Amino acid sequence: MKDKIRQLSEEIEQLMAESHEHVEELRIRFLSKKGLIPSLFSDFRNVAPEQRKEIGQALNTLKQKAGEKINELKSQLDLGGASESSDTDMSRPAEEISIGSRHPISLVRNRIISIFQNIGFNVSDGPEMEDDWHNFSALNFPPEHPARDMQDTFFIEKGKDHKDQVALRTHTSSVQVRVMETTEPPIRTLSPGRVFRNEAISARSHCIFHQVEGLYVDKGVSFADLKQTLYYFATEMFGEETRIRFRPSYFPFTEPSAEMDISCILCKGKGCNVCKYTGWLEIMGCGMVDPAVLKNCGIDPEVYSGFAFGMGIERVAMMQYAVRDIRYFFENDQRFLKQFTPAL
Ligand code: DAH
Repeated sequence: MKDKIRQLSEEIEQLMAESHEHVEELRIRFLSKKGLIPSLFSDFRNVAPEQRKEIGQALNTLKQKAGEKINELKSQLDLGGASESSDTDMSRPAEEISIGSRHPISLVRNRIISIFQNIGFNVSDGPEMEDDWHNFSALNFPPEHPARDMQDTFFIEKGKDHKDQVALRTHTSSVQVRVMETTEPPIRTLSPGRVFRNEAISARSHCIFHQVEGLYVDKGVSFADLKQTLYYFATEMFGEETRIRFRPSYFPFTEPSAEMDISCILCKGKGCNVCKYTGWLEIMGCGMVDPAVLKNCGIDPEVYSGFAFGMGIERVAMMQYAVRDIRYFFENDQRFLKQFTPAL
């Protein structure tokens, strides 16, 4: 009897099931009224009294074990098949897990941030849905001023008065207002983020893109500081031999304002089709923060001065990686994305 119990116990341990019908067959074989285990219980009558305790216990254990095994097989099947079916080769090497790559926009953004972090800039954030004050008015865009047309805006709430307008931010300059309103100078901050403009989508422009805004406010900040800081950035980002030039420009929130160009990173200034044979590439807008903007944000322009700049991340990424169509950045085509550094 003991041998019989041991033998059944081993057999039960080895059981595997291919289907629910098979499990049911096993249950009938071992546990149904006329099954193997109940028939052992019937034989129990013939067991010698001194062995009853031991064999009784063994029988009960066997019955319990059979019940548990049958349930286990059932739930394995419910979960999608037997986990250790005989055709699983446990020695086979695991399938390769492919690791994603960082998006080129993230790579360029992180590089820009780390260059400025090295000279004491921090990173600040602001909302993508912005009110009129932070996106326009505090930055010296008067309500009906044509400068607003430079940034064709997606409005969320038009409102009767321009003050009630809510829009998707058209630039990250809104974040400099938020920082100045809440921080005592000295301020050295970088604001990367997504911006939105109602532009027709083409190879060169998109209605969603990314900018990095920079702001430096302290006592005695001058245009020379702006130039030196941006020169440092250009040489770190594009190589030591990079040259820069400034062209006068207009932004409502800076005075004077400029457009900064870098010598073409492909032809080094000799002239090629990327720089349209000028030798220069436009890279960002910049200027001295207009005293009216400082005042709007609660900073005394008699005490403090500052400079600001803003650049498009897609633009920089297109230059760095020679990407000819801005739409690649938004299409999530793996053939494009896999060409960039793995995200490790
Ligand atoms: N906000 C400007 C734009 O989106 C870019 C810019 C220009 C930002 C000059 C600045 C700046 O801070 O000083 O076109």
